[in-house]
Amino acid sequence: MSIPEVPDVSGLVTEVLLTAGQIQTTVRDLGARISADYAGRELSLVSILKGGTFFLVDLARAIEVPVTIDFFGISSYGADRHSGVVRITKDLDESIEGRDVLLVEDIVDTGLTLGYIRRALEARGPASLRTCVLFDRPYRRIVDLPVEYRGLELPDLFVVGYGLDWQQKYRNLPYVGVLNPELYDPSRTRMPWQA
Ligand code: PRP
Repeated sequence: MSIPEVPDVSGLVTEVLLTAGQIQTTVRDLGARISADYAGRELSLVSILKGGTFFLVDLARAIEVPVTIDFFGISSYGADRHSGVVRITKDLDESIEGRDVLLVEDIVDTGLTLGYIRRALEARGPASLRTCVLFDRPYRRIVDLPVEYRGLELPDLFVVGYGLDWQQKYRNLPYVGVLNPELYDPSRTRMPWQA
């Protein structure tokens, strides 16, 4: 059974911002750039749980040099997303000392998550450490950090799909769509992720 490019979303999203085809084209382009940059080397891909996993799998298949994959998890920010207080919920299985490491993340907003993880991984002595993000909201950045491989910019809307969730759901949509505001409290003046 084939997955339609734009499925019948039945009120879940009000607009499809990025089709599955557009996303896959971007992933392939990123994979080609990474393959060229790391030609003749091996690469350790580190994905951030949970949203980054969907991108990781497709990106790994678009990279032509040998790769290993590993996963890193940190807790949400709790009551204050900007507190900088985080907890490692899943550490890497393998050492990255002396390895070429590419952090793979679905989205960077404030940069707090990636900033923390970059610092944590740099302390482990990788030969190199770069970052690849599929989606970016650069206008929301609080922490300035290098992003060597960047896919697509997203508008300041609550979107779901391709790793991005609402209440842990809808990550598995093959496209990115704007979540129907009727599904969350329409009287809210702040976006759900700002709570
Ligand atoms: C999302 C995303 C990044 C982070 C980006 O994760 O996957 O890790 O937010 O935001 P920032 O740049 O403002 O730190 P989330 O905390 O929603 O967890 P999830 O990956 O499990 O969805």
